[in-house]
Amino acid sequence: MPEPKWEQFAREEAKCYVDTNFNGNKKDFFNSGQSFVEQSLEEVLPRLDETARALEIGCGVGRLTFPHAVEFDEVLAVDVAPTMLAQLEKHANQFGVDNIETYLPDQPWHTKPVNFVYSYLVFQHIPDLEVIRKYIKKIASCLKPNGKGMARLQFDTRPATLLYRCRNNLPDWLLPKNQRQGIRRIRRKPNTLEGIFQTNNLSIVRQQFTNSTMHTFLLEKID
Ligand SMILES: C[S@@+](CC[C@H](N)C(=O)[O-])C[C@H]1O[C@@H](n2cnc3c(N)ncnc32)[C@H](O)[C@@H]1O
Repeated sequence: MPEPKWEQFAREEAKCYVDTNFNGNKKDFFNSGQSFVEQSLEEVLPRLDETARALEIGCGVGRLTFPHAVEFDEVLAVDVAPTMLAQLEKHANQFGVDNIETYLPDQPWHTKPVNFVYSYLVFQHIPDLEVIRKYIKKIASCLKPNGKGMARLQFDTRPATLLYRCRNNLPDWLLPKNQRQGIRRIRRKPNTLEGIFQTNNLSIVRQQFTNSTMHTFLLEKID
């Protein structure tokens, strides 16, 4: 099995790949996560009956995980890159945070009931739709049903224009760094995603920024 691209990126310079605006300032990096999470949770927390457990898919070095770990008793953090998880754990030690459990994708992160699942800037980088399908199925299997749990998942749903499709067929050496395989964004059709949600009994509560790079679905599971 070849090493996942994101493991190579993590070894090269993890924070630069997580946030392409990273300016070398670790404080700014984590602050960007803090303000993003505050806004997101303002809507979600009042809807939850408890804040026992959150689950993050594609946690990187923990930019969004640490603010969630303040609000939830426990956060399960999944990532495909072992070096991302190692860096998250190193930061957790530095910050004195001990309620985050890290997992690789094939480890059993979906066996405990979760109140909130979130994923940002991750599914857009997964080229294989089957991988996304498997994630959604596992998310649905552990999300608490009937309004007791919520999921907030972000995708790039811009239309797949001719230019976009041509670019995807070019070899990496002809492309700028941010458009190469692994880091480039993969666009998904909203109705494909809606079909996957429906198959897994996930009902759409609200959508934000439709047909854009930040199309975000707020979902709940119907039992
Ligand atoms: C742009 S970073 C975003 C990290 C984090 N969500 C944030 O906003 O700070 C994308 C992350 O997704 C992870 N990732 C990519 N493909 C993945 C997959 N198939 N399963 C889990 N994580 C994946 C990468 O290793 C990386 O940590």
